[in-house]
Amino acid sequence: MNDLHGKRIVLGLTGGIACYKAAELCRSLVKAGAQVQVVMTEAAAQFITPVTLQALSGHPVYTSQWDAREGNNMAHINLSREADAIVIAPASADFMAKLIHGKADELLSLMCLARPLQTVPLILAPAMNREMWAHPATQRNVAQLKADGAHVLDVGQGDQACGETGDGRMLEADEIVEELLAFWTPQVLKGQQVLITAGPTYEAIDPVRGITNLSSGKMGFAIARAARHAGAEVTLVAGPVSLPTPRGIKRIDVRSALQMNDAVQGLAGHASVFIAAAAVADWRPAAAADHKIKKDGSGDAPDMKFVENPDILAQVAHSERAQKRQLFCVGFAAESHDLLALATAKRARKGVPLLVGNIGPSTFGQDDNALLLVDAQGAKELPRDTKTKLAQDLIQDIAQRLSKH
Ligand code: C5P
Repeated sequence: MNDLHGKRIVLGLTGGIACYKAAELCRSLVKAGAQVQVVMTEAAAQFITPVTLQALSGHPVYTSQWDAREGNNMAHINLSREADAIVIAPASADFMAKLIHGKADELLSLMCLARPLQTVPLILAPAMNREMWAHPATQRNVAQLKADGAHVLDVGQGDQACGETGDGRMLEADEIVEELLAFWTPQVLKGQQVLITAGPTYEAIDPVRGITNLSSGKMGFAIARAARHAGAEVTLVAGPVSLPTPRGIKRIDVRSALQMNDAVQGLAGHASVFIAAAAVADWRPAAAADHKIKKDGSGDAPDMKFVENPDILAQVAHSERAQKRQLFCVGFAAESHDLLALATAKRARKGVPLLVGNIGPSTFGQDDNALLLVDAQGAKELPRDTKTKLAQDLIQDIAQRLSKH
C-alpha cells in the first residue's frame, strides 16, 4: 500500500549510531511511495556512508553546502522548496541545540533555517544516550523546538549502543513511518475516545478444546490504526489473534465473549465512539469441563448444552450514554448471503445508527474486503479494496456522522 505516495521527503541524518536505522527508514519511505532526498552531516557520514543512502533513495546524497552540482550553488534553498517535509532521523542532541539557536554552519542546519516555515514541516526523531536525553538542556531544547513549530517525535525505550538501558533510542523505521502517516492524516477524530472490538472469541469446551470462528481481526485492527491516525485515542479489545498492536493504541487481550463483555462494559463509559468489529460467538458451552472430555467407548458424542452470550453491542447501544448521544455505536454484520436485507434488519435489532455489512467467507483472514454501510436512510457501498483503505474511508464516514450526531 503506497500510503506516502507522491510525498517528497528530505531525509536528514545527523551523527549517531541510530544512523543504521535511517537506512531502513529510507527504504521504508521509498517502499511506501515517497520520493526521498537524503542530506547528511559530516558526523552522520562517520556512521554510515552516503553510498548506502544513495542506493536506497535512488538519488545522490548531499553532504555539503558547497556542492557544485546545484546550478546556483544554493542546495539549502533548492532542496527544501519542493519538500512536503524535512525529516531529521536521527536528530542528535547537538543538532537540536544548533537548531534552537538558528545556527547554520553546514548544509542540513542551513536548510532547516531556510525552509519556508508555513509550508515545509520539520519532523525530528531524536536519538541519544539516556542521560543526554534526560538532561535539562536537551529537554529545554525539545520544548523550544516544539514552540518554534517543529514536530518532535517520542524516543523509544530499551537497550542502548553504549550498554545502558533507558529512554533515548530512535524510534524504529516502521514506527517513524506510522508517525508520518498520522502526521499527514486529517485529524477528523481529534478529541474522540474510540473503543473497538476485533477478532473472534474462543469459548472453551474443556481445557484443550473450544469453539471459535475464522475472523482474523484484520479489519478491526485496520480500523483501530486508521482511527489513531485520524487523531483519536484508541482502545482495542482483541480476541485471540496473532496480529501486532498498531502503534499508539491501548490493547486489551481477551479470549471469551464474557471476558470481552467485561472489558467493553468497563470502558464504554469513557468512550465517544464504539465500533464492534469482533465476531463474537453467539453461544458458549453451558459449563467448560475441568478435564479433557474423553471418548467413553459408547460411540456417542457427548451431550453438550449451550447458553447464549451477552450481546455486547446491543447492551452498549442501549446504555444511557448511547441513548443520550454521548456515544456513537457502529455494529458489524458478517453474513454469507442477502447482505442488504440482513444488515438492515440487524441494524434495527441492535439499535445502532450505523451497521457495516460484509460477506464473512470472502473476507475472513484476507487483506481486502468490501463494505456495505447501512443507516436509517439506506445503504452505501465501499467497493472491494484493502482493509487499510476501507478502514480509512470508514473512519472518514464516521467522523462526518459524528459532526451531525
Ligand atoms: O448478532 P451478530 O453476531 O450477527 O451481530 C454482529 C454485531 O454484533 C457485530 O458488531 C458484533 O461485534 C456484535 N456482537 C456483540 N456481541 C455478541 C454478538 C455480536 O457485540 N454477543
